[in-house]
Amino acid sequence: MNYIGSKYSLMDFLTETIRAVAGADTNKVFADLFAGTGVVGKTFKEKGYRVLSNDIQYYSYVLNKHLIENVPPLEVKILDKLNNLSGTEGFIYNNYCAGSGSGRNYFTDENGKKCDSIRIELERLKNCGEIDESQYYYLLASLINSIDKYANTASVYGAFLKQIKKSAAKEFKLELLPVIDGNKSGKAYNENISDLIKKISGDILYLDPPYNARQYCTNYHVLETIARYDSPELKGKTGLRDYSAQKSDFCSPKTVVAAFDDIIKNANFKYIFLSYNNEGLMPFETIRNTMQKYGKYEMFSTDYRRFKADTDENRNHKSDKTVEYLHCLIKK
Ligand SMILES: C[S@@+](CC[C@H](N)C(=O)[O-])C[C@H]1O[C@@H](n2cnc3c(N)ncnc32)[C@H](O)[C@@H]1O
Repeated sequence: MNYIGSKYSLMDFLTETIRAVAGADTNKVFADLFAGTGVVGKTFKEKGYRVLSNDIQYYSYVLNKHLIENVPPLEVKILDKLNNLSGTEGFIYNNYCAGSGSGRNYFTDENGKKCDSIRIELERLKNCGEIDESQYYYLLASLINSIDKYANTASVYGAFLKQIKKSAAKEFKLELLPVIDGNKSGKAYNENISDLIKKISGDILYLDPPYNARQYCTNYHVLETIARYDSPELKGKTGLRDYSAQKSDFCSPKTVVAAFDDIIKNANFKYIFLSYNNEGLMPFETIRNTMQKYGKYEMFSTDYRRFKADTDENRNHKSDKTVEYLHCLIKK
């Protein structure tokens, strides 16, 4: 997924630095508690670590439930059947497609109806026991990952495009995510990290919070609704669901420093790593001073290409590059 803040292209930098600081022994518990797409946790699972994953967004929980908890062999034999379902005028079509009169243009009518059919069928299959929990999350995670490729947006769901773009016009096809081999005892959570951090423990804690004021709950609200399929009341031009319980303390200059300090203080982990960049809400010195209070601090950095939408017209960026930091703490 093209996700804000995804660490997909930084994985080599992260794995090498984490190994240099925390050692090469993979018989450890690795926690990825702002998991997003799950690419970090998935990579450490493949290396043999026991991975704990968490995100406040439910679509991310679904992705990680599959990527972190499911292991081979895991098969589903109904992919063709799902792809051949005829369309349904369900919640997605009625609220996010132009043909229903919703005034929103997130998907073509055909793709919205197809998404509805698959989403409804997954719930039916789970409820009547035709698929088990592992298969349910496998298919639902695959639906979230697949449908995102057909979204008629510049990149995120904060707005839709007026005209259907080329990638959104293609006929939607459900494609399966890989089943990740690795440690079988991983676990995914769907909580606010400020609560979860007091309940778990492990060896390596990786933190990748939002860097700025862009809330994930508003930028990915359509994926949240497809994942939950809970027919929420929608508001405004873009059809936002209620996100009051998912607003992140890490997206506001008023709350971010205290929330960060609280996590470091409460973390029952020896090694703590924080990804952040030079344009984030917390100044570099604040991060260093906060982490230094709790043990031995070190910092690593690399240049990074900026996250880009399809069109960059409304932006006025000075540079195409940012500096990506990995702040490290060995806790006392
Ligand atoms: C920078 S992204 C993580 C990207 C991820 N590392 C990846 O590579 O895909 C930050 C994530 O933190 C989540 N988040 C924000 N505030 C949170 C909180 N208080 N508790 C748990 N997750 C939170 C967001 O939903 C988002 O998925």
